[in-house]
Parts: sequence; C-alpha cells; structure tokens
Amino acid sequence: MANYRDVPAEPGTERAETSTSTRALIVDPSADSNIGFGEVATPVAGPHQILVGVQYAALNYADLNNARSGRVPVGAPLGLDAAGIVLRGATDGSGPPRRSRVVLFADGAFAERVAVDVSAVAEVPDGVGLAEAAALPTAGLAALRSLRSAGVGPGKRVLVTGASGGVGRYAVTLAALAGAYVVASVGSPARGDGLADAGADEVVEGMAGINEPVDIVVETVGGRQLVRAWELLAAGGSLQSIGWTSAEPAVFPPYATVGPPKTLTSYVNEFDAAADLAQLVRLVAEGAVVPEIGWRGSWERFDEAVDALRGRRVAGKVVFQLSSHA
Ligand SMILES: NC(=O)c1ccc[n+]([C@@H]2O[C@H](COP(=O)([O-])OP(=O)(O)OC[C@H]3O[C@@H](n4cnc5c(N)ncnc54)[C@H](OP(=O)(O)O)[C@@H]3O)[C@@H](O)[C@H]2O)c1
Repeated sequence: MANYRDVPAEPGTERAETSTSTRALIVDPSADSNIGFGEVATPVAGPHQILVGVQYAALNYADLNNARSGRVPVGAPLGLDAAGIVLRGATDGSGPPRRSRVVLFADGAFAERVAVDVSAVAEVPDGVGLAEAAALPTAGLAALRSLRSAGVGPGKRVLVTGASGGVGRYAVTLAALAGAYVVASVGSPARGDGLADAGADEVVEGMAGINEPVDIVVETVGGRQLVRAWELLAAGGSLQSIGWTSAEPAVFPPYATVGPPKTLTSYVNEFDAAADLAQLVRLVAEGAVVPEIGWRGSWERFDEAVDALRGRRVAGKVVFQLSSHA
C-alpha cells in the first residue's frame, strides 16, 4: 500500500513549488463536455493554507453541473475532491506538514497543485490509498452529514434514492453502520450490484415495492422520486434533499404537505470539512467504509469518465489519476 514514504518523493517538488503555472481541467466551452485541459496560475497559498501536489481526484455529478452552470467561470479549474502530498505546509504552522498524505475538499481540485485551507483537509492514514481517499469528500460528506442531521440511529428505517451513485453508496453504508434498516433504491436490478454487501437490507427498483413508511430519506434524484419519498416519510421523519439527477420537476398532489409534522430539508456541503473528512478516512482505515471506485483511469481520459457518469454506468465513484503520477 502506498504511503508517503513510497510515493515518489513529490516529483519535482522544488520545481512544483516555484512554477508559475499548473495543468488543470478547466471550464472550456469549446469542448462537448464543456471541460478541457488548460494551464492556470499556480495558486498562492495563504497563511492558513497548504499547497498540495494532487495525485488523484474524483469526479462528481456536481462537476458536470459546474462545467455548465456558470458557477465556475470559463477558464477556471473544476473539481472538488482530491488527494495528494503536501508540498508546502501552512505558514501559520496549522494543519498537516510538508510531505503529509492528505485528502482535500476545495474548489479547483482538478489541478496538479491546489492551495487549500487547512479547515478543508484531513491526513490520510497509512493503509488507506490516496485513490480511495480522493473518492470520499463530496459524496461522503453529503451522506455523513445529511444522515447525522436527520438523526440516523438504531431502529430507523432509511430510504436512499440513487443508491448506486456516489452519495447513495456511502449513505447506504453509513446508515447501516449506524444501525438503521436500509432500503436502497436503484434504476435497474443491475445497478443494485454490491449494495447488499455495502449494507442495504432491501434493494428496490425505482420506488416500487416500498410499502412501509420510512423515518429518513437521503434523496438525490428529485422529480417523481422526491414526491414518492415524501409520501413514504413517516410523521416526525426527515427527507434530506441533496441532489436532483433526474432534472424532472416534482409535482406534489394537493394537500401532500398537510398533516402530521415531518420535514423536507435542503442540503449543501459546507467547506469546513476537516473533522468529517478525518472521520471518513478513519472509517476507511478501519474497513467499515469501502469506497467503491467504478471508474478509475488517467485524467487524460476524462471525457470517457464524464460519459460513463452521465450515462449512469458508474457504480460508486469515478477517480482520476493525474498524468504526472501515472
Ligand atoms: N447538495 C450537495 O452538497 C450535494 C453533494 C453531493 C451530491 N449532490 C447532488 O446529488 C446528486 C447525486 O450525486 P452523485 O455524485 O451521487 O451522482 P452519481 O454518482 O452520478 O449518482 C447519481 C445516481 O442517481 C441515479 N439517477 C436517477 N435518475 C438519474 C438521471 N436521470 N440521470 C442520472 N442519474 C440518475 C443514478 O442511479 P441509477 O442509474 O441506479 O438510477 C445514479 O447512480 C447530484 O444531483 C449531485 O449534484 C449534492
């Protein structure tokens, strides 16, 4: 298993620290996917930031949206999730020191070098691969935090929609670890592969065959599934609305929202993630969470990965290896 001693000693560290540009996957409107390679200015780390030499990065559905939504400007690097080696520690002395292996959650993660606030990184223990660590942040944080805020625990019935995807698989495992009964909803029987091993008590196709009320919903699909999930939610329950991959409107029948109190809560990942990232990598180190990497390859093949994610052919996560480390 790679650790910081056997990872090539920060290839060209000195050059990497001083070079004024860095290769990145950027918003590129001339490309079909709106994503392409470019050179961006090497980020300058602030006093509370570290400079990381990225080795692996994970693609999220959010990146596909960010490439087109205008949230990330044209020419700016995409990405949120990465793992690598600290090239330069924070000058205020906080956070992991130079040469540490870290996972990070930050805008612009699809770049060879990323400056990130120490509040958004965690050290990766020996025994956890950097590829597995990179697969954690966006999806793992959404699953962990939404389940926590919904009050997951023993005896709760948890419905996870889009359970074959990044957020979904982590939510299945984390809910099961908390002692909940987990119903995993997927688009087709084949998309349910591995979910029983990940912790699902039931795997259902769409929303068919769910007859008993649920206490918590981790909802990533939106549209009709959101409406049906709301109907299935028991009094006192919590529906966490995390994503909307269906891109369909949700049309509630009249009076659907009238009755004994239950909540529909919107969710967004905040960047202050160090403690939760540390918890996630610890769970991986213990073998309690096993990141499912359904697509793994060089970032030179990002178009292939984007197609696979869009085409719902990825089980769990897409992880890129940056070419300088291939
Ligand atoms: N709010 C936040 O902070 C936050 C954080 C993370 C993710 N998200 C959002 O949560 C959603 C899921 O993210 P993810 O990273 O888990 O995505 P993902 O890995 O692509 O998984 C999404 C799953 O949704 C299902 N799905 C159902 N209808 C779909 C459709 N029309 N198109 C594509 N997929 C469809 C697919 O399962 P089947 O093929 O089995 O149907 C797929 O496995 C996205 O909308 C993302 O933007 C939000």
